[in-house]
Amino acid sequence: MKKTTVVTTILGKKSNKLPDQDVASVFAPTNIALCKYWGKRDSELNLPVTSSFSLSLGKKGTKTELKVSDTAYDVILLNNKEVDSSSEFYKRLAAFLDLFPVHRAMRFYVNTQSNIPTAAGLASSASGFAAIVMALNQLFCWGLSYQKLSILARLGSGSACRSIWQGFVEWHAGTQNNGMDSYGEPFPHTWPELCMGLCIVSTKEKYISSREAMKRTIETSPFFAEWPNKVNMDLPILKQAIINKDFHLFGKVSESNAMSMHATMLSAWPPIHYAVPETILIMKKVWELRQQGLPLYFTQDAGPNLKLLFLEKDKEQIQQYFTSIEILQPFLE
Ligand code: PMV
Repeated sequence: MKKTTVVTTILGKKSNKLPDQDVASVFAPTNIALCKYWGKRDSELNLPVTSSFSLSLGKKGTKTELKVSDTAYDVILLNNKEVDSSSEFYKRLAAFLDLFPVHRAMRFYVNTQSNIPTAAGLASSASGFAAIVMALNQLFCWGLSYQKLSILARLGSGSACRSIWQGFVEWHAGTQNNGMDSYGEPFPHTWPELCMGLCIVSTKEKYISSREAMKRTIETSPFFAEWPNKVNMDLPILKQAIINKDFHLFGKVSESNAMSMHATMLSAWPPIHYAVPETILIMKKVWELRQQGLPLYFTQDAGPNLKLLFLEKDKEQIQQYFTSIEILQPFLE
């Protein structure tokens, strides 16, 4: 099935309505998966092999301003600077806008402001696609449900379907071929004491996109067959650990899930290794500190940066050990 079919199914008669307001302005948070999405069962619609589970990062994310432009082409700005139409960023966003019938009749001015490094494994595309979908919904007064917005955001980037909400979000893999049952759902529990420390060791673009890396892993890794079992085991334990506020179990499952995802990549051919030397040094430091009794864990996505997981009570100590980290408390932002 094509993406455009999904879009027209969701929009129905709403699609050709002219803007009821001049400008839309929305914010979508970035999200970090604690139980990862790795592998697509449909690469056109970004339908995942397994469900996944994430935490949205409060004020970290993308603010998007959208209005109709009288230019012959879309004007796209990233952090207030006009983006060249030959760049990947421009092409990806313009292609996404093309899925919407309204784009046939008009061009847009899109100003995307992101306070996270683009393409460094910090899910900037997740908040970016969630924000553009929410902005279209606001500009054209479509009144779509969050569930439908989540499905539309998924067409831009899989993990974007979790960035429609703050807090913990589960992305249900679904089973339907059209993906109408593959969307995010907020997990109704909070954890105000939970902290995430962003360890940025590199802001360079990732050397292989997550799309390519997933494809190569599925096609060549002998361990990928085990991955869905790992997720099916981890996901219910993670949710129960949140309900019970069992931080050790929560940290253990999150870290182990990330390491297993990277193990499937290491065993792909050619191997995929997103870490840089600093990534490994930080992992070793976390393991050493944990052995000394500090409740500290990490997770890693498709990039070299680590996200540390710990509780508020250990904030100061952790800031001393990792002087350059930025600490977020997602439920208090
Ligand atoms: O949504 P994508 O194509 O950027 O893939 C995201 C993949 C991971 O960040 C590694 C895992 C996840 O669940 O977010």
